[in-house]
Amino acid sequence: MEKILILGAGGQLGKELADALSKVYGQSNIILSDIKPIENSEFVTEIVDVLNSEQILTVLKKHAITHIYHLAAILSAAGEKNPALAWNINMNGLLNVLEVAVGLQIKQVFWPSSIAAFGPNTPRVNTPQFCIMDPNTMYGITKLTGERLCEYYFLKKGLDVRSLRYPGIISYATPPGGGTTDYAIHIFHEALKHQKYTCFLSENTELPMIYMPDAVRATMELMQAPKEKISVRSSYNLAAISFTPKQIAQEIQKHISQFQINYQPDFRQSIADSWPKSIDDSFARKDWNWKHEYNLPEIVKDMLFHIQKSL
Ligand code: SER
Repeated sequence: MEKILILGAGGQLGKELADALSKVYGQSNIILSDIKPIENSEFVTEIVDVLNSEQILTVLKKHAITHIYHLAAILSAAGEKNPALAWNINMNGLLNVLEVAVGLQIKQVFWPSSIAAFGPNTPRVNTPQFCIMDPNTMYGITKLTGERLCEYYFLKKGLDVRSLRYPGIISYATPPGGGTTDYAIHIFHEALKHQKYTCFLSENTELPMIYMPDAVRATMELMQAPKEKISVRSSYNLAAISFTPKQIAQEIQKHISQFQINYQPDFRQSIADSWPKSIDDSFARKDWNWKHEYNLPEIVKDMLFHIQKSL
């Protein structure tokens, strides 16, 4: 039986992943943890600082955990403001989790990588699974190094660790924090509240994106796939759609005709410019039958509906 610990569950992905996991494994088998208390949760919660191995170990033993989803991280834009902290949390946090997981013979570990693991010399269109990766943000450097670490723990220690290179994740339930792709979330809130949005990326900046339900399903399908199907032990390229700020604005205007966007690119522009525009995820499609469901018009419609309801 699965007993699951989500580390960093207070972030953008944690709660939605927990809800989906609880439908399969039962709510009482999912434990949410974060460095800060998680308020008003229907799940059992714990405080865990991923830099504290003892704390991780204690919680794993206390709940007889079999599976870990390690989501605690500092994202790209936040990481550029405090690179040393991003390195410490993203790298030492991962190392601690992998070490403890090996020691306790944890059955499976999930760890997210990102399109940020690519860099300026990566082919930017249909970025292949295997190619030059020269990330130039601290976040991207920790993601690429983390991928190497995951594969190392699989090859040398037999740990069943699996990973996805997430595109920008679009969602309405929990606000994201400190990402470069976050404009594609802020834009909905501003469109509904003020009918205008100032975008921190330029109008034709194309980036790979995915809607939260697809991201959650991809994560679960990867983790449920038979071991022999998993041919990539660093991290799988994962794709859904790609669009620019201009294209998402035009789609929003179909619902809110007076919506206006203007552009004031800041330091996040150069981060976005070093990332792929689109991703070749044929390994995921072949190995575990990955298929995205949501395209841009459906995402926009669904986002506007849910954010409107919450306002
Ligand atoms: N969405 C993340 C970011 O923008 C990339 O993984 O930082």
